[in-house]
Amino acid sequence: MATVPALHEWAPDSWTRFKTLQQPVYRDQAALKSAVDSLAALPPLVVSWEVDALKRQLARAQAGECFVLQGGDCAESLEDCESGHIVQQLKILLQMSLVLAHGLRQPIVRIGRLAGQYAKPRSADTETVDGVTLPSYRGDIVNRAPFDAASREPDPQLLLRGYERAALTLNFVRGLIDGGFADLHHPEYWDLQFMRHSPKYEEYQRVVDNLVGSMRFFESMTGRAVHDSNRIDFYSSHEGLHLLYEQAQTRHIARVNRWYNLSTHLPWIGVRTAALDGGHVEYFRGIANPVAVKVGADADPAYLRELIRILNPNREPGRLALIHRLGNAKVESALPRLIEAVRGQHQEVLWICDPMHGNTESTATGVKTRRFDNILGELEAAFRIHHDHGSRLGGVHLELTGENVTECTGGARGLSDVDLARAYRSTVDPRLNYEQALEVAMRISRHAELRR
Ligand code: PEP
Ligand code: CO
Repeated sequence: MATVPALHEWAPDSWTRFKTLQQPVYRDQAALKSAVDSLAALPPLVVSWEVDALKRQLARAQAGECFVLQGGDCAESLEDCESGHIVQQLKILLQMSLVLAHGLRQPIVRIGRLAGQYAKPRSADTETVDGVTLPSYRGDIVNRAPFDAASREPDPQLLLRGYERAALTLNFVRGLIDGGFADLHHPEYWDLQFMRHSPKYEEYQRVVDNLVGSMRFFESMTGRAVHDSNRIDFYSSHEGLHLLYEQAQTRHIARVNRWYNLSTHLPWIGVRTAALDGGHVEYFRGIANPVAVKVGADADPAYLRELIRILNPNREPGRLALIHRLGNAKVESALPRLIEAVRGQHQEVLWICDPMHGNTESTATGVKTRRFDNILGELEAAFRIHHDHGSRLGGVHLELTGENVTECTGGARGLSDVDLARAYRSTVDPRLNYEQALEVAMRISRHAELRR
């Protein structure tokens, strides 16, 4: 285990004194400084009251009073910032949250992987094709995916394009929600058109009818509208990978005398950048947001305990979520160790399961995919193992889309490797499509008893 530097004064840029992985190398430092300065002057995307409200919700999830649904694209692209895509993402998350609320009989905290999920960690800094070596694609906020020298050159202006697209996305999401898009009195508004042909449609419709029926019954008995039924909370999250972007949106809030990352409500640290002595842990330790860290199967107990001590020294409920992403093959052996390591710390984290990133594989023809059965297998094992160890799974983290893509195999329609070519759109990791995502929500709902 790496030795941890002595605690020192934190500042939004103190991370620059630490070894910081996965950062792009920009050729033009003057252009970079000018883009980061502009970003620092632009208004924040979220406000500190919302961030504090999410932290309170996560504290409730940690106490077992609600359940977290976090999901969205693996990588957002600048082109996908259009109304159709955003509406579909919001709809599938709303539909899943309805199914989960019904099954688990608890409020659901909805958190999108959106409005800033533009920076991606890569396993290598460069990629070589036919003898040509270029920088790896690191997400649309850094460079572009096509394999040519101009596209792959990190461009500081993309930091601003990413910020702008994030702002446009959030503006639309806020408008839809404030305008009653998620009003339970009109669930038909947020139905997905193609849903009607899904093998899961009837089951979904039964859940909706049931919920609407209960709500109308309550309203007719009491003569009052169900509180807030026309307005829901929806929060944003992304991997806080590109630290110049995160730093530029870090603001001091005088009312509490603390620094907040106001580019998103919930930033998380990816598994590749979670070293105790790295720049990411240093940056995250000083912000007041709730934060999450991805945890892989090789994390050892001493590492976890130290991570918790650094990121949540005051044992604040709702401050720290650990998102385990172990893989279906390793969840049985790895998860009990993680749970025991944290228990020594008096269960002061919120546990979330990401059943996607430990289950990525390649088909015989080299297409990146994930099997539905492995995703579900890991998730179901996680519920059971937490329960058996006196712990509680408080949420799920998924890569999904409300669109009819073919990126993961299996599910009710039994997609196979040959189906993947039909509608594979992700530039990075394979996502659950709308039917597979809904099916996951239905299956989680059956685990209500394991959350008590
Ligand atoms: C991701 O969430 O897209 C990701 C890269 O995850 P991880 O850090 O768990 O590999
Ligand atoms: Co991913």
